[in-house]
Amino acid sequence: MSAVSDVTTPTPPPPSLGPRTPALPALDVLLGPGGSGHLAGTRLEPAPDEEALAAFYASPPGPHVRANMVASVDGGAWGPDHRSGTINDAADWRVFRVLRALADVVLVGAGTARAEGYTALDVPRGLEHLRAGRGPLELAVVTRSGHLPASLAGGDRPPFVVTGEHGASVARASVPADRILVVGAAPPAAPPGAPLTARDLPSPTPGPDLRAGLAALAAQGLARVLCEGGPHLLADLLARDLLDELCVTTTPVLVGPGPGRIVGGLPPLPAGVRAERETGSPEGPAASAPIVHPRLAHLLHADGTLVARWALR
Ligand SMILES: NC(=O)c1ccc[n+]([C@@H]2O[C@H](COP(=O)([O-])OP(=O)(O)OC[C@H]3O[C@@H](n4cnc5c(N)ncnc54)[C@H](OP(=O)(O)O)[C@@H]3O)[C@@H](O)[C@H]2O)c1
Repeated sequence: MSAVSDVTTPTPPPPSLGPRTPALPALDVLLGPGGSGHLAGTRLEPAPDEEALAAFYASPPGPHVRANMVASVDGGAWGPDHRSGTINDAADWRVFRVLRALADVVLVGAGTARAEGYTALDVPRGLEHLRAGRGPLELAVVTRSGHLPASLAGGDRPPFVVTGEHGASVARASVPADRILVVGAAPPAAPPGAPLTARDLPSPTPGPDLRAGLAALAAQGLARVLCEGGPHLLADLLARDLLDELCVTTTPVLVGPGPGRIVGGLPPLPAGVRAERETGSPEGPAASAPIVHPRLAHLLHADGTLVARWALR
């Protein structure tokens, strides 16, 4: 059956997955949908249609923003080559394909588009039926600078570009004007009265308002958003409370010191801690960002890899 051969020879992985084309593993259900014991102890065998796995990632109708990231056991977001391909694996790839099939648009920061060599996207082969009649899978790149990698510039399937006025003036050299979604500058992430962070300070090329960017994508019919990183974009989406869920695959590798976490950037320091540091007093807490408590919506396992879906709403 051709569909079965799709399982053993899946769509070639993106550059981020490295050179091999992995066989897809079974996924053990450790915690079932909704964080319940329902289906716990069962096993999701790789299936040509992936209907059962897709059901684990069902989301309510309407706009929805999901991020999908991979991390090493020691918290690294990339391997020695500065790409996530050296820390992800076949279990991650199996879920990655399904999440792409369920999305209208994949949203990435320009840093990830450059590091991972993103090109125009296709719906993973054999999973078109999961799209329930939605159109092609689009790519949208978030950028302040407007600089796109050569792999995305000038092609016949240009990405959407979410940016501000400055970025738009640069991006026009790479993509048609109707693919550039120009939004205003982001308002400060901190609530009124809170100390400003480096992210909030006026900049010659301020970041685009991501809430407005998501609304602009929704206006294009792209309301089911899958953010594939990177860490700085994920940090901004979290800081602005724009994520509905965060999917994190933890693979059984240790990368050691060096690689950043899946959430990037410098933490905001409360004024008191900053003052203590300036006066040489003992260090206080590392960050003033409020701790968020996501809810574990399910947990799957294969060969030491843990595949978690965390709900933020
Ligand atoms: N572990 C994982 O799942 C995973 C996923 C993705 C990437 N990665 C890794 O992460 C590394 C890249 O990290 P990164 O933090 O630099 O990635 P990133 O967030 O994709 O890139 C940062 C760049 O994206 C743009 N950007 C991000 N947030 C923005 C915002 N709110 N407004 C406007 N522009 C924004 C800016 O582009 P301009 O410079 O053009 O203004 C910024 O310089 C790579 O090594 C990659 O392999 C890992």
